[in-house]
Parts: sequence; structure tokens; C-alpha cells
Amino acid sequence: MSATAPEAPLVIVPMRRRHLRAVLRTETRVYPRPWTVGLYLGELAQPEERRCYLVAREGAQVVGHAGMIVLGDDGHITTLAVDPEHQGRGIGARLLGLLLDAARERGLSGVTLEVRTGNEPALALYRRFGFVEEGVRRGYYEETGDDAVIMWLRDLTPRPESAAPGDQEDTTP
Ligand SMILES: CC(C)(COP(=O)(O)OP(=O)(O)OC[C@H]1O[C@@H](n2cnc3c(N)ncnc32)[C@H](O)[C@@H]1OP(=O)(O)O)[C@@H](O)C(=O)NCCC(=O)NCCS
Repeated sequence: MSATAPEAPLVIVPMRRRHLRAVLRTETRVYPRPWTVGLYLGELAQPEERRCYLVAREGAQVVGHAGMIVLGDDGHITTLAVDPEHQGRGIGARLLGLLLDAARERGLSGVTLEVRTGNEPALALYRRFGFVEEGVRRGYYEETGDDAVIMWLRDLTPRPESAAPGDQEDTTP
């Protein structure tokens, strides 16, 4: 028998307050200007039909997270981050697929986001899901002066990259 414990399956569940320590840890590792706990608490307090915040968990370990807010008929992706040690394993794609499922369930007409120019992994991921570059916001990222590419997905028809069978709603209070 192998001495190595089998890896816990990856599940994607709604973000809760108890996940925030790990979420902020990932944020500080991947973003020059991470969100604060106060910002997240404010988002989690909003009505569920206007927000969708998810975490990817392996056992007790939170390895990534993503969020979307609803403005009018559109979804705006506010964050998508995978801990550097876990990148390149399909976790970002799983999270993004579930955000888009949430947009469809809410009957939204499109989904948009901003991404730093030159962030090739993120640009490639969004393009793979059908997002198209529609404009640039000059100097959007104040901390570095970098521009943001504005991307839109205006056709929310499901694509093969959507949710995997392990993805589930967490009913734990
Ligand atoms: C962008 C990010 C969320 C992707 O998460 P991930 O779990 O590493 O991505 P996945 O393993 O699911 O890869 C999905 C797709 O992303 C693209 N991608 C991921 N890493 C890439 C890399 N290093 N180079 C180029 N494309 C890459 C590819 O299109 C890939 O599809 P493929 O495997 O079929 O080639 C992750 O790199 C991250 O957290 N980056 C820092 C935070 C950030 O920039 N977030 C985006 C803010 S707008």
C-alpha cells in the first residue's frame, strides 16, 4: 500500500467568511494591489442575485477564488486568482466556467472584465472562453500605471469548458 495519501478532490464552492484568510493570502501573492478583508466582507454581504464569489478547495486548502458582480444586465468579473503553487492545473478555467454558468442562471446578457495588458496567461484563458478585446483603459492600474484591456463575452451560449462534475454548492452554513 502506498504511504502517500490520495490528493483531495478539487471542489468549487461559494466563498464564505471562513475562506477569507486564504483568499487574501492568494491575493497578496498574485496582485500588486490586493483587496482588503473589508472589501470582501462588503461583497459577501450583498444579495446573492447581484454577486457570485467562489473558492476552489482541495480538502481544507483554498487554492483559488473568483468573483463577479451584476451591474444592470451584465456581469463584471472582479477577481480570478489561483495560488502560484497551483497554477496551470485547470483551476482558473474551472472557476471561470462556473462564473459564466452563474451569469447564465441569472439571465445576464454579457460578461465583461479588465485585464492588465501583457498578462498573457489571463488573456489566453479569457480568449479560450470566447472573450473578445473591445477596448483599452489607459493607466487603469494606478499602482503601476499599466493599461487595462477591456474584454467582453456577449454570447453566453455554453462552451465545453464549463463546470466539471465535482463542482457543487456548499450548503454548510
Ligand atoms: C490567470 C490565472 C487565474 C489562470 O489560472 P490557472 O489555474 O493557472 O489556469 P488554467 O490552468 O486553468 O489554464 C487555463 C488556460 O489559461 C491559459 N494559461 C494559463 N496559464 C498560462 C500561461 N502560463 N501562459 C499562457 N497561457 C496560460 C491557457 O489558455 C490555459 O488553457 P490550456 O491549458 O488549454 O492552454 C492565474 O494565472 C492567476 O491567478 N494569475 C494571477 C492573477 C491574475 O492575473 N488574474 C487575472 C486577473 S484579470
